[in-house]
Amino acid sequence: MNLPVSFSSDYQQAMGRLLVLYTQIDRLIMEICAQRLPEAPNEEAQLALAKQVGDESRHVSIQRAWMRDFGADPTPLITPEQEQLIREHFQSLPWMDFLVDLYLCVEALGSEAVERIVPLVDLGTRESLRIPLTDELDHVDFGLRQIKKELARMSAMERQVFINQLPVRIESLTKAFHGFGIPERQMFEAVGADYDRLCFLLEQRQKELIADLIDASQCFSKTTSSVSTAMA
Ligand SMILES: [Fe+2]
Ligand SMILES: [Fe+2]
Repeated sequence: MNLPVSFSSDYQQAMGRLLVLYTQIDRLIMEICAQRLPEAPNEEAQLALAKQVGDESRHVSIQRAWMRDFGADPTPLITPEQEQLIREHFQSLPWMDFLVDLYLCVEALGSEAVERIVPLVDLGTRESLRIPLTDELDHVDFGLRQIKKELARMSAMERQVFINQLPVRIESLTKAFHGFGIPERQMFEAVGADYDRLCFLLEQRQKELIADLIDASQCFSKTTSSVSTAMA
C-alpha cells in the first residue's frame, strides 16, 4: 500500500475532492457508454464502447482504492439529480452530438485538465492516474476517428456548419457543468495549479482539436471534388 506522506490539510482535502470528482465522472462515462452500446451505428463503435465500459470500470476501481488509502472524503460532488441530468443529456443526443460532447468535451478536454495537474500532485495520486490517463488517449482517439468518419459522410456545407458551431456547443456544455456549483477554481488552486493558466491551456487544446477536424474536412472536400471531377 502506498500511503501518502504528510501534506498540508488544504492539499489533502482538495486533492481528495478532485479524486472523488474524477471517479464520479469515470463512473458516469461507464454508464453512458453502456447505455449507448446497443445503438452504436457500426461494429467498430460497439466494440470500442464495450472496451471503454471495461476501462472506465477499472479506473473507478483503481481510484476508489487510492481514495481509501489517501483518506479522501468520499462525499460526492455531483449530486444524484445532476448525475441523472447528465445521463439523460447523453441519452437524448444523436450519435454525432454524442461523440462531440463525450469525446471532445469530457474525454479530450477533461483528461487534458487532469494531465496538466499530474506534475503537481503527490506520487501516490500520480500513480493512480497512470493507467486511467493512458486509456483516455485511446478513448479520445476513437472519438475523433468516429467524428471524422461522420464528417466524411456530410456535404461540404453541412461540415462547415457543424464545425462552425463546435465552439458554441463546447461552451454551452462547459457552462452547464460550471452551473453545478462545483468549486473547481478553489480545488485546482489548493493543489498548486494556476487556474487561469489551466483555462487558457484548455482553450488552446480545444482550438487544436477543432483545427484537426478542419484539416480532415478539407481533405474530404478535396476528395469529394476530385471524385466529382473524375465522374464529370
Ligand atoms: Fe476514465
Ligand atoms: Fe475515458
